[in-house]
Amino acid sequence: MRELIDRYGRKHTYLRISVTDRCNLRCLYCMPEEGMTFMEQSKLLSYDDIVEVVKTAAELGISKLRITGGEPLVRPNLDLLIGRLSAVNGIREIALTTNGLLLAKQAQKLRDAGLNRVNISLDTLDPARFRFIARRGELQRVMEGVEAAAEAGLGPIKLNCVLLKGINEDEIAAFLRMSYERPLHIRFIEYMPIGHDDAGWRNHYLPLSRVLEVAKAQGHAIDAADAEAPQGSGPSENWRIRGGIGTFGLIHPISEHFCKSCNRLRLTADGNIKPCLYWMDELNVRPALGDRDEIRRLFLRAMDIKPENHEMAALLAGEAQSHVPTERRMSQIG
Ligand code: GTP
Ligand code: 5AD
Ligand code: SF4
Repeated sequence: MRELIDRYGRKHTYLRISVTDRCNLRCLYCMPEEGMTFMEQSKLLSYDDIVEVVKTAAELGISKLRITGGEPLVRPNLDLLIGRLSAVNGIREIALTTNGLLLAKQAQKLRDAGLNRVNISLDTLDPARFRFIARRGELQRVMEGVEAAAEAGLGPIKLNCVLLKGINEDEIAAFLRMSYERPLHIRFIEYMPIGHDDAGWRNHYLPLSRVLEVAKAQGHAIDAADAEAPQGSGPSENWRIRGGIGTFGLIHPISEHFCKSCNRLRLTADGNIKPCLYWMDELNVRPALGDRDEIRRLFLRAMDIKPENHEMAALLAGEAQSHVPTERRMSQIG
């Protein structure tokens, strides 16, 4: 069996599948308030198409899938897709990244269909600030989604908190406390400049060293928890406040990138294999549908063109980029 090993020796076992670029929120680090020109429905891969691509990917060693968006739960009947993907030979885990708004309604159905875990975005614990960051929706509904996911057995649940300088950095202590009191894994994430005008990013990027400073200032003793934090294939560095029930993680793509251990590929909702989140390069699978050999060739080609790393730190330092960065936003990548 051929495996997906790139020019730098990295083995790829994790495929992130975006099922839509639409979303019921407009998080300020991700999408403009007025929304964007969304993909035409006819341009999206159908569930049949996605299953076909995944069958080939699984033959090449992909064993973990993550369903993303936009917001994946706005795509109708997602449980049907999950049910079909969980039956594909070789797929051992299916996870979902969601903003949680529609999760309370769907958690049990998704679990029954074969979903294993969820990661839920949670950038603030304050309802008014939620409105400011996400511009729509209600924090209360997200919290109900977190509870429903736990009840449905979709844990260990990871909460994703993108830290924004001057916006939610004053909540680091509260999130740390939450990881102490509850069986949750809180992941602080550095704000990344993906596919958009970078002025907002420069103003609000915050290196995650700040989290450890706050933990220290609060008098917490913290222990490395990589061995015990919920396992995933993500690049999070994991910690526990001594005596705490939950854990917290740091995802710091900019201050210290983790590209050396990258094991992931992406499939966009409109059918492009994307070897790296950051760069423009993509391979369109649509012309290959119906021909498994051709789909296989595209995955192997993705290994040949995957770059060694992103250059977000260089962007911050005002240095030139070696390739062309993507023009897609995070919601169009997943
Ligand atoms: P686990 O498998 O549960 O660890 O999840 P994950 O971290 O792979 O997935 P999730 O969708 O929850 O992503 C969390 C954060 O990781 C995102 O908000 C991104 O900031 C960051 N991230 C995800 N994929 C990539 C990637 O390919 N490159 C970089 N630099 N950051 C990524
Ligand atoms: N930088 C960092 N994380 C981001 N996310 C979306 N856009 C960005 C960005 N520019 C996060 C969301 C979600 C995950 C899939 O990606 O908050 O948790
Ligand atoms: Fe929607 Fe996620 Fe983007 Fe927020 S980060 S607007 S929840 S796709």
